[in-house]
Amino acid sequence: LNLNNAEFIRSAAKAADFPRDMLPQVVFAGRSNVGKSSVINKLLNRKNFARVGSAPGKTTHINYFLIDKKLYLVDLPGYGYAKVSQAEKARWGRLIESWFADQTLMTLGVLIVDSRHKPTADDCVMADWFKQSGRPFVVVANKLDKLKKSEIEPNLQRVRETLELDESVKVIPFSAEKGEGRTALLDAILDHQEG
Ligand code: GTP
Ligand code: MG
Repeated sequence: LNLNNAEFIRSAAKAADFPRDMLPQVVFAGRSNVGKSSVINKLLNRKNFARVGSAPGKTTHINYFLIDKKLYLVDLPGYGYAKVSQAEKARWGRLIESWFADQTLMTLGVLIVDSRHKPTADDCVMADWFKQSGRPFVVVANKLDKLKKSEIEPNLQRVRETLELDESVKVIPFSAEKGEGRTALLDAILDHQEG
């Protein structure tokens, strides 16, 4: 898979905008500001490919990036941002729901959480969506660079316990800032390239 051959395809605001070309899709989900776009940038070794914003809730549409004309990376809009209106939250819910309802093409789910904190109730709900999808998924524990060495193991364990992950689900320690975990995540994606 040639990661240098990456193109932005589109921003989808509704199911009618989803691509219909039957290519496999790797989806990135997580709380607003957890670093979904940054993880995609780091994977592709690009600086500002998937948009990165300091203002949370910046990604409000589902962004599709096509890699080597073979596979999509799908950047879902973040959840759990308090300052978003009820109407926006409802819109988010409908959009994600229609995405999952449609997704026979998801080859791998990537749930991104903040390694500093205990996963939130919203993270647990998202983990359940992935479990129910019946598709393989991994959890990326991002912002590892913000942890002390001694915090790493207990925090990773807390992620696994709180999300009630079974043994088969990998928790990948990751830093979109420093690049840690990039190879492990890439391997997971390549392992599930074919669906
Ligand atoms: P939304 O699109 O709003 O849902 O956010 P997002 O999940 O795409 O997060 P984004 O990639 O925009 O990153 C949010 C902020 O966190 C930015 O300021 C990033 O620079 C920062 N950030 C992301 N990953 C890391 C990381 O691993 N370490 C550190 N220190 N900062 C990070
Ligand atoms: Mg984003």
